[in-house]
Order: sequence, then C-alpha cells, then structure tokens
Amino acid sequence: MTPSDEERAQVLRRQFPVLRRLAYLNAGTNGPLPEVVRAAVEESLRHQYRRGRIGREAFREHQAAGERVRELASRLLGADPAELALTHHTTEGMNIAAWGLPWRQGDRVLTTDQEHPGGLLPLAGLRRRLGVEVDFLQAADLAAEPAGAVEAAITPRTRLLAFSHVSYRTGEVLPAAAMIRAAHGRGVPALVDGAQAVGAIPVDMAELGADFYALPGQKWLCGPEGTGLLYVNRRQLPHLRQTFLGYLSIRDLDEAGEFLPQEGARRYEVGFLFQPSLAGLAAALELFLDQVGPAWAYRRIVALREEARRLLGGPGVEFLTPPEAAGILSFRVKGLDPGEAVAALEKKKVLIRSIERPSCLRVAAGYYNSQQDLERLADGLAALRR
Ligand SMILES: Cc1ncc(COP(=O)(O)O)c(C=O)c1O
Repeated sequence: MTPSDEERAQVLRRQFPVLRRLAYLNAGTNGPLPEVVRAAVEESLRHQYRRGRIGREAFREHQAAGERVRELASRLLGADPAELALTHHTTEGMNIAAWGLPWRQGDRVLTTDQEHPGGLLPLAGLRRRLGVEVDFLQAADLAAEPAGAVEAAITPRTRLLAFSHVSYRTGEVLPAAAMIRAAHGRGVPALVDGAQAVGAIPVDMAELGADFYALPGQKWLCGPEGTGLLYVNRRQLPHLRQTFLGYLSIRDLDEAGEFLPQEGARRYEVGFLFQPSLAGLAAALELFLDQVGPAWAYRRIVALREEARRLLGGPGVEFLTPPEAAGILSFRVKGLDPGEAVAALEKKKVLIRSIERPSCLRVAAGYYNSQQDLERLADGLAALRR
C-alpha cells in the first residue's frame, strides 16, 4: 500500500463514522454507511414527510430518483440506463431473470459449486416447481479450462448458465467472460450474480457479455439495504418474460387487461420503491464514481487483501483464497472454530464473518479500511489462539 493510497483512504474514511469505533471488515455482507448516504436518505424522507407523497410533482420526483440511479449505475457498469431494472437486492434480480425464461420440464440450468443461496435458490425453485434439472460445474475445472468445462457440461436441454462472478466463499474471480462466450457459442444465455464483484472489481457489461447481471446496493457500494439492480442486455428484452407485473412495468393497459410492457428493463419493476432508499443509493454511487473511482477502489482492495494475508499468515493458518481474487480473503486457523472466533472478535469490535461450507473465516476489506483495522484483526486472532 503506497503512502498516497493510505492518505486518500484516510480522507475517504471521514465519510464513515462507524470506522472510528469498529474494525469493520465485512463489505461482503453490508458495507458501512457513508455520511453522504445518511444525509441523502434523511433529506429525502424529510422532504416526503413535509411535502406529502402525492400529486404530479411527487410522482415526477419519484420517477427522477429512479432515473438518477439508473443513470449513475449505467456509468459504473458500462450499460445503457434502459438495460437496468431497480430491485431490492441481488436475490430479487436473480429471481427475475431465472423465472423469466420459457422453461419446460426436463430443461437444464448449468451453475457452479460456488453459489450463494441468493443465486442457487432461484434455480432450486425452478427444479422443484417446474422440473428443471440443475447441473454443477466445479470451480477448479473452470479455473483450468473455462471454455472447455462449460462446453463439456452443456447439453441439448441446457437453457441457462447461471453463476457468481466472484465466489462469496473464497473471493475467487470466476473466468466469467470466457464462460459466457462458451455458453453463447452453444446458444445458451448467461445470468451472473455480481454480489461480490460490483464495487470490489471493475465490472463492464460490454467486456463481460452477460445477458443478465444482478447486483446489490448495500455491499461494496455502501448503499442502503433494500436496493439493487438487474441488468438485462437489450437483445434479451424481447425474450425475458415479465413474471411479476404491476403499474410500473407497463406503458398501457386496456379494460380487458391487454397491456404494452415498458420499453426497457423497467418492465421488470413492479411497484414503487422507498424513495429515500433510491436517494441513498444514488448518493452511494456518486461517492463511488466521483470520489473513490472503481479502478482505485480495486487497487486498494487488492492491496488490503494481500496485506491481510501477510499479517494473518503463519503456522496453522490455511488460506482458501487464490491469487485471482476480488476483495475477500478466506482462511482457516487450526484449533479455532470459525463461528466462535467471529463472536469473540465482535466483542473486541472487530467484525468479520464465518462461512459454513467450507468451514472458514472470511475478511472482506473495503477501500475505506486501514492498516490499523487489519492489525486489530491480526492481534485479535492471535489473542484467541493463545
Ligand atoms: C454471491 C452472493 N450472491 C447473493 C447474495 C445475496 O445478496 P442480496 O442480499 O443482495 O440478495 C450474496 C450475499 O452475501 C452473495 O455473496
């Protein structure tokens, strides 16, 4: 970590009062809330409270809040705002995309052995309700030969490749672009769970080529919870069906219930979101795009991860995170139960999490974390081992 990066991080840390109190090392669940997000949420709520929530102006403001989020997120992702639907979280985006395909019994979906329940459960739901079969790729095979592994696993009944861009367990960055190209070569679209990627590593829709990409607001972007987005590539808009329909998903509705969908990905939005959440997410995106910068955040996050590896390493410590990783560092410590260690560290105001399968500890340091945060973690673990 260079001194100038450390200085810049120190300036940005002022946005996060909670960092004065806690070694907050779990962006993978919820990032800390920045001051600008608190202010935007409070201001929006106060405005609604004072002025009321009805009338044409209020409606326009609500629409504008959504447009602002779409516009900022499109800059972050290299997408068109019309390709973005507002959601409440990654899981909702994964469900919208998974349930929107024209499944038939006996169709197959291809996924990996690294999936979070938020990505796996929509597929498990398809299996249970519609008789869709779920096939699993092994991350180790993908790392060795991404295109070959995908091609070998695709059958004539495979209708979707659905996988995490970054493993929530180990932080491994999956070879997403090569996997997607291989799937496309066989006429199979790709749905990507970007929960541990966006805000941690640079993510560009054109480079990736994904058909669908779901992401959260509350993790590495430090937005409010209850916020997220689903990217739907414009070529998929005519094909991805609307599973849920509501006032916001249509342009026109007649007495008989015939309707015209919204033109873009807004067709997958059903009803109004909480306006202060949208204001908060917009503030988080502005902070990230204009003051932090995705490229700098990535460099900083990788440097912190490797510094954590250096500080925590030693006899009895086994790292599960490979070199090609995003912001997560997973490890086991001989003699320490991960769940108990997390609880004991929390008492010392050091926040990380444990993972069940494989049983390990997980550190997820954001750009705002410092050398001291990592040292507090290392000291805390050393004390537990004594
Ligand atoms: C890879 C992955 N997918 C999905 C989720 C669920 O995210 P959300 O709460 O935004 O639905 C998580 C949360 O930790 C995750 O790590």
